[in-house]
Amino acid sequence: MNNTLSRRQILLGGMGVSISHWLLAKAVSQRDGAGTCTGVASEQVLAIALQRGDPGGHYRRALATFPFQQFSDMVLKAFFIEGGQRPGQRPRNIPMFDIAPSKLLIALRVCADYSMVWLAKEKNDGPIGMNYLDKIGIPHVYALVGAMLAGVDYLTVGAGIPDSFPIMIDAVLSGQLVKYPVPVSEIGRSTFHEMCFDPSGFFGENLPEMKRPAFFPVIASNLLAQVLLRMKKLQGKIDGFVIEGPTAGGHNAPPRDHEVDASGDPVYNERDVVNFRKIADYGLPFWIGGGIASPEKLRWAISEGAVGGQIGTAFAFCQESGMDPELRRRVARLAYEGKLKIRTSSLASPTGFPFKTVEGLDGTLTDPHIQVERACTRGALRTLFRKIDGSIGYRCPAEPVDIYVSKGGLHEDTAGRQCICNGLLATAGLGNSDFPKIVTSGDDLPRLMRALMNGPDDDYTVDKVFEYLAA
Ligand SMILES: Cc1cc2nc3c(=O)[nH]c(=O)nc-3n(C[C@H](O)[C@H](O)[C@H](O)COP(=O)(O)O)c2cc1C
Repeated sequence: MNNTLSRRQILLGGMGVSISHWLLAKAVSQRDGAGTCTGVASEQVLAIALQRGDPGGHYRRALATFPFQQFSDMVLKAFFIEGGQRPGQRPRNIPMFDIAPSKLLIALRVCADYSMVWLAKEKNDGPIGMNYLDKIGIPHVYALVGAMLAGVDYLTVGAGIPDSFPIMIDAVLSGQLVKYPVPVSEIGRSTFHEMCFDPSGFFGENLPEMKRPAFFPVIASNLLAQVLLRMKKLQGKIDGFVIEGPTAGGHNAPPRDHEVDASGDPVYNERDVVNFRKIADYGLPFWIGGGIASPEKLRWAISEGAVGGQIGTAFAFCQESGMDPELRRRVARLAYEGKLKIRTSSLASPTGFPFKTVEGLDGTLTDPHIQVERACTRGALRTLFRKIDGSIGYRCPAEPVDIYVSKGGLHEDTAGRQCICNGLLATAGLGNSDFPKIVTSGDDLPRLMRALMNGPDDDYTVDKVFEYLAA
């Protein structure tokens, strides 16, 4: 692993969809941090940006350097609209990932992760990483190739047990078939469908020489650190950890004892507290995530043996963030004024993981007056199930209940589930105009906005976050 990376105290949290996009990642890595781009639904992000005419020409600049031009041309031809979509013009259909994606969708995904890393690294020597969620497994084999072609420095992977990533990295480096096992629900047993990608077969020539990115699993317990480090296949292939606590924004690990409060939200107890000294004993660099964005907390993390902190919320609401600027400033102002509450919802996310939602924002998905019709139109969080005829089907607990149940899904799994694919794309200003946004943040949001803003209408930058943390 590159030495400067293991000395960077501030690791930008990977924040989907498109919150920690390349501009934010670049800004953080230029300020002595490590800049993580989010890889969540990046194919949607690239296709939508191209349909909007690629303002600033950034993606076209990146795609002009893609090593297999025939494929980037295919992507541009399919999605780029000169001057952007006209009012009333229907957006081009972006296919959903399934186990047999089209050539165009594969090219789109490889090009998306390539472009994001390439743009974050453009005229920038600082370390740039990619964040993936184990749970969104179908596109990983393509995404990783794109990120590695652009020279990604490290990967942070959470929301599951990401033990297949180092094996995929080896396969990409040695020109082998890249494989990722995606779970398939089946009555009475759990099986996997192996996604396979042969990059040289696909591109028609061998991949250029690439470097090995460092691999940092994002985990929430001593137990998982131990399990991963004991796996034979991972020996020497884990370069460090991000240890994320239950106050962090985004999805959280469920409590070990599965305790819930009266409203069904998770309750964490002392069994969820990580012993960082034990993590430090492994001798690998690690960063602590969740409420670390203060000078005192950062010093405490370092005193526990960590390199520093993985920070999300403080950066999600700064100028360089990928969040829709109007929404971002509204949330920051209301948080500054103490008018918002952060909830850890057991139900909101179709993934089944607890998900932090910002409550008190009229017109967003957490507003009880907002009703949206259930539908699955993006498909990023669909899971696989085995149909009676043995073939594979797809379902998401946020789709219409009767459809989900007709696919063998449990009725109780649909309660309260919302389409966060469309909600999060809307939050990044990339959604359909009529779909409500959904905002996630860490518990620390109100305190942070008061620490970082000079008044309710202030708009702070990445620089301000670094200055505050160094105080
Ligand atoms: C808006 C937002 C989106 C997030 N999305 C993701 C994600 O897609 N993948 C992930 O691993 N973590 C995600 N996180 C968690 C961050 O990567 C990071 O670990 C966390 O924000 C650290 O805690 P903090 O929010 O208290 O700083 C997200 C956090 C926020 C605030």
